[in-house]
Amino acid sequence: PAETVPQAPEDPLFGLARAYKADNSPLKVDLGIGAYRDNNAKPWVLPVVKKADEILRNNPELNHEYAPIAGIESFTSKAAELMLGADSPALAERRTTSVQTISGTGAVHLGALFLAKFYKGSQTVYVSNPTWANHHQIFSNVGIKVAQYPYFNKETRGLDFEGMTAAISAAPEGSIILLHPCAHNPTGVDPTLDQWKELAVIIREKKHFPFFDCAYQGFASGDLARDAAAVRYFVEQGFELVVAQSFAKNFGLYGERAGCFHVVAAPAADATTTITRIASQLAILQRSEISNPPLYGARIASTVLNDAQLFAEWEENLKTMSGRIIDMRKALRSKLEELETPGTWNHITDQIGMFSFTGLSEPQVLKLREEYHIYMTKNGRISMAGLNTNNIDHVAQAIRKVVGE
Ligand code: LMR
Repeated sequence: PAETVPQAPEDPLFGLARAYKADNSPLKVDLGIGAYRDNNAKPWVLPVVKKADEILRNNPELNHEYAPIAGIESFTSKAAELMLGADSPALAERRTTSVQTISGTGAVHLGALFLAKFYKGSQTVYVSNPTWANHHQIFSNVGIKVAQYPYFNKETRGLDFEGMTAAISAAPEGSIILLHPCAHNPTGVDPTLDQWKELAVIIREKKHFPFFDCAYQGFASGDLARDAAAVRYFVEQGFELVVAQSFAKNFGLYGERAGCFHVVAAPAADATTTITRIASQLAILQRSEISNPPLYGARIASTVLNDAQLFAEWEENLKTMSGRIIDMRKALRSKLEELETPGTWNHITDQIGMFSFTGLSEPQVLKLREEYHIYMTKNGRISMAGLNTNNIDHVAQAIRKVVGE
């Protein structure tokens, strides 16, 4: 049977990382993967993560026993509070359940698997066009069809809200709607709170099922609560919904795979028994897939989330990251404008979060890679954290050249 297995293409994002690594030019710049870098282009271990690590190391009680199937309770309960708000009516009414996952990817997968098995509405998920490329394969792998709603307006390089709402209104009743609550990947364009409210009206009317994928809480506004406002609004409105939550970016725990999947049941007299049944099924899915989740990343996050002082320090660390990204947005835009680069560049500072969707075409992206050793995804997305005071002139000048040709 092995002979019949066709060759698959390499993952574009990890292929890009490999090509960057193999490039020996001292000029090379990595604007590919969405991972924070400091001003020296180096990965940044958050100081609060170092402290938490120290605390864990000095705890003689810790061992390497299995976590429970649903994960470390001190982690998942705080993760839920972080997303839903400590004063969430859903938490008070005990109609949520949370499962620790293999970061955000694992959370989206567990959610997709759960819906494939138990969701009685339409087995089609609507994702934004564009979205994180992995969404397509995660859902289709479990047999859920993927359709798209317009999201990005190429002219304004902002949100195509009309296109988005029209498509979500036209989707068959009971469709699954995948939403990025903040710092949209890859565009860096988010709906306003008023637009979220309009979306909630349509989603309720059409009896759609909201599936939030939140990988960048803390990166959009720099404020953890504000970045969760869309999710909290939908919960307030009494929706039944799910949330995939990643701690890769906001804790810098990429490879440690710390994340959480939350289900919120709609308010009802029997909501707690409903959620208990859901939790029992999630436990079976989790057991058959990964048995139980990994310890280290969740222990780090849990240590911080459960200590007021460390939590405050984490918020400062988040501001360091989001602040440097904002500085780089301002610098890139003003350099492109100073160089009189054809086109408008206000979208670089209008967009938020880890990414900017530059509007560069695929041939321009390839030229930047081949001639200037600047690496970004083919759709023209740049990871803003890859820019720093040492490489920004090179990047601005190279963009000026490829755009001007
Ligand atoms: C990205 O889009 O760069 C990140 O979410 C990393 C990933 O896993 O794709």
